[in-house]
Amino acid sequence: MDRGTGALDDPVGESLRGHHAHLARRVGSAATYLPDVTTFAAVPADPGAAEWADLARLLGSGELADLFSSPATPPSDWEPVFSLSARRMVGPADGLPDQTAGAAPVVELGPGDVADMLDLVARTEPGPFWARTRELGTYLGVRDEGGALVAMAGERLRPPGWTEISAVCTAPAARGRGHAARLVRALAARVRSRGERPFLHVAESNTAAIALYERLGFTTLEPVTFRGFRVP
Ligand SMILES: CC(C)(COP(=O)(O)OP(=O)(O)OC[C@H]1O[C@@H](n2cnc3c(N)ncnc32)[C@H](O)[C@@H]1OP(=O)(O)O)[C@@H](O)C(=O)NCCC(=O)NCCS
Repeated sequence: MDRGTGALDDPVGESLRGHHAHLARRVGSAATYLPDVTTFAAVPADPGAAEWADLARLLGSGELADLFSSPATPPSDWEPVFSLSARRMVGPADGLPDQTAGAAPVVELGPGDVADMLDLVARTEPGPFWARTRELGTYLGVRDEGGALVAMAGERLRPPGWTEISAVCTAPAARGRGHAARLVRALAARVRSRGERPFLHVAESNTAAIALYERLGFTTLEPVTFRGFRVP
């Protein structure tokens, strides 16, 4: 099923109102996730002073306001913390090319795998990932013969009709063996089986990952900038 990309304009807000409502915290018009799930926060389109005040009350003075890809800019006393140029990519409308060639099995990762997931993320830095991030969706991994987790990827934001593939990472010593490609394909198949389409975000500087996603049939929808600010 093909989907319009409108839900991708506000993927955090759409997820918090929908599939992730059980993981949301809200004050007035502002919303964010429970601690340790993600730091992403959402404000309505074209927020004014009242909406920024809601977000400030929700997060607390001195805390990070992680606006994800929102183009909304807070009042000038909200100090910029980070700004990252990235791109939003979408999976092919007609599914990913099939490739099931052998290798280590892909396993679903559960609560007992969180320590290994956090350790792999610390070594590979695929993007933000915390102790409860896996509750956002299904996370899949590959373990080596000794049982060590060497690759993983999972589902994150879920605006209507779409699921974001995230936390794609492979331990340095296990790269170039197709683990990431297999995990992204497996997740994309799950997403499609729900009648949804996969999308993802990747830093503009991450040319290796962009090349991998393009080989898997993902195309660039638009540039985005991830920004965070300090709540005054
Ligand atoms: C990007 C990343 C997930 C790729 O993982 P991977 O398991 O090596 O990916 P694959 O083996 O499926 O595909 C990698 C492709 O890139 C090439 N490649 C990338 N890095 C490589 C490396 N260090 N060694 C060998 N080949 C590499 C391979 O040639 C391969 O191409 P091929 O499919 O034509 O053979 C991994 O490099 C990584 O963890 N990077 C750090 C975290 C990150 O940036 N994640 C993406 C966030 S959006």
